[in-house]
Amino acid sequence: MTRLAYHGGTPIRTAPWPSWPIRDEREIKALDDVARSGQWGRLCENSRVAEFEKKFAAYQDAQFGIAVTNGTAALTIALKAAGIDIGDEVIVPGYTFIATASCAVQNNAVPVFVDVEFDTLNIDPAAIEAAITPRTRAIIPVHWAGRAADMDRILAVASKHELAVIEDACHGWGASWKNRKLGAIGDLGGVSFQSSKHITAGEGGIILTDDEELAAKCFSYHHIGRIAGRPFYEHHRIGWNARMTEFQAAVLLVQLERLEEQAARREANAVFLSHQLAGIDGISLPRREPFMTRIAWHEFRLLYDEAAFGGVPRDAFVAALKAEGIPAGRGYSHPLYKNPVFAEQRFGRLAEHVQFPDYARMHLPNCERICRDSVTISQLCLLGTREDMLDIARAVRKIKNNAHALADRPAHACA
Ligand SMILES: Cc1ncc(COP(=O)(O)O)c(C=O)c1O
Repeated sequence: MTRLAYHGGTPIRTAPWPSWPIRDEREIKALDDVARSGQWGRLCENSRVAEFEKKFAAYQDAQFGIAVTNGTAALTIALKAAGIDIGDEVIVPGYTFIATASCAVQNNAVPVFVDVEFDTLNIDPAAIEAAITPRTRAIIPVHWAGRAADMDRILAVASKHELAVIEDACHGWGASWKNRKLGAIGDLGGVSFQSSKHITAGEGGIILTDDEELAAKCFSYHHIGRIAGRPFYEHHRIGWNARMTEFQAAVLLVQLERLEEQAARREANAVFLSHQLAGIDGISLPRREPFMTRIAWHEFRLLYDEAAFGGVPRDAFVAALKAEGIPAGRGYSHPLYKNPVFAEQRFGRLAEHVQFPDYARMHLPNCERICRDSVTISQLCLLGTREDMLDIARAVRKIKNNAHALADRPAHACA
C-alpha cells in the first residue's frame, strides 16, 4: 500500500497552490495613481472610497455602503447605530471570530453566546429564541465562511421580540441567501477586507444597509460625529475616525473586478470536490440548505469522525493531509467564550456596572465539537483546477486507506 507522505512516502502533491492575494499590475497602477494624485484620504473630490462604497454595496444588493478601516469597526459602528447601549444583551454564536462579540463590549453591551448547528456551522435559531431576555436588543448572525445563516427564522425571532439584526457578513463577499447577497438582509451588516479575505486591501471593511437613516448614522459615527453637508468642525456625536483611505479603495476597486469570476470558480470547484469526497466513511460535509444559494467558501470544511479513521486523532489527520501537500488546518482550537478575555471577564470597570454571564462555565456542545472534530482546507485550493480538486480527494482517500498506519504512528502529528 502507498506510504503516507507523513511517514516518508511520496506526497500526492508538490505543485504550489495559487498564492494570495491574487494581484497584478492593475493594483500597482491603482496605487501609483493615488500616490501621484496627492489625494490620499476620502475627503477629496471624486473619492475612490465613495466609488467603492457604491460599487460594492450594489454588488451585495445593498442600497448603502459606508467604507471603514476594518470589519471590526464595521460591526462596532453598526451596533452603535442600531442603538445598542450599556447593559444591552446581544446574541452571538459561540463559534466565531472575536469581533462578532467584542463589538458588543465596545458598546458597553453584553455578548450572549449561543450554540451553532454542528452541520451548518451557523447560529442555531432555536438557541437564539431560548436566550432572549428582557435585556436582549440585537442578534448578530455570522454567515460562517460565506454560508448564509437561516435568515427567515432569525428575522422572524427578531421581529417577534423587536430586536435589531446585524449580519456579520465579514465572509460574505458574493455569497447569497435565496439569491439575495448578504449584509443588508437584516438592519445592517459588516464585511471585512483584511488580508485573508476574498477581496482585500490588507485591511478594510464596509457597513451595508438598506436603511437611509441608519446609513447616515453610520457615516457620522465613522466620521467622528460629523454629519454630511454640515460644517467640518461641527460634531454631533462621539464617533470614531474609521475612514478608509483612497489607497485601500483603489486596491479594492481592482480586486472587486475579479471577485465575481473567483466566487463562481470557488463555488464550482467546491461542488465538484464535495462529490469527490462523498462516500468516504468518516468525512462528511456541512449541510447545504436550499437558501444558501451561493456560498463564498472562505474555507472548505470537513467534519471528521475519528472512530471511522481507526481512532486517528483529528490533528494527526490534519498533519497527514498537510504532508500530502494539501493546505489543511483545524480552524479555531476553542470556542470564543473560552478565551481569557471572556472567561475571566477582562472588561475593566464595565463589569462593575453590567452583569455578564459566567463565560468560564459555559458549554456549547456544537461549538466545542466543531473545534474538536472539523478540518479546514484553504479557500485558495478552490481557485485551482478540477485536477487540483482531485488531488485533495486523493489525499483524503490515501489517508483513509492508511489510517491503521497513522493510528500506530501518530506521535509527532499534533506538533
Ligand atoms: C467572522 C468575522 N467577523 C469579523 C471579523 C473582523 O474583521 P477585521 O479583521 O477586518 O476586523 C472577521 C475577521 O477575520 C471575521 O472572520
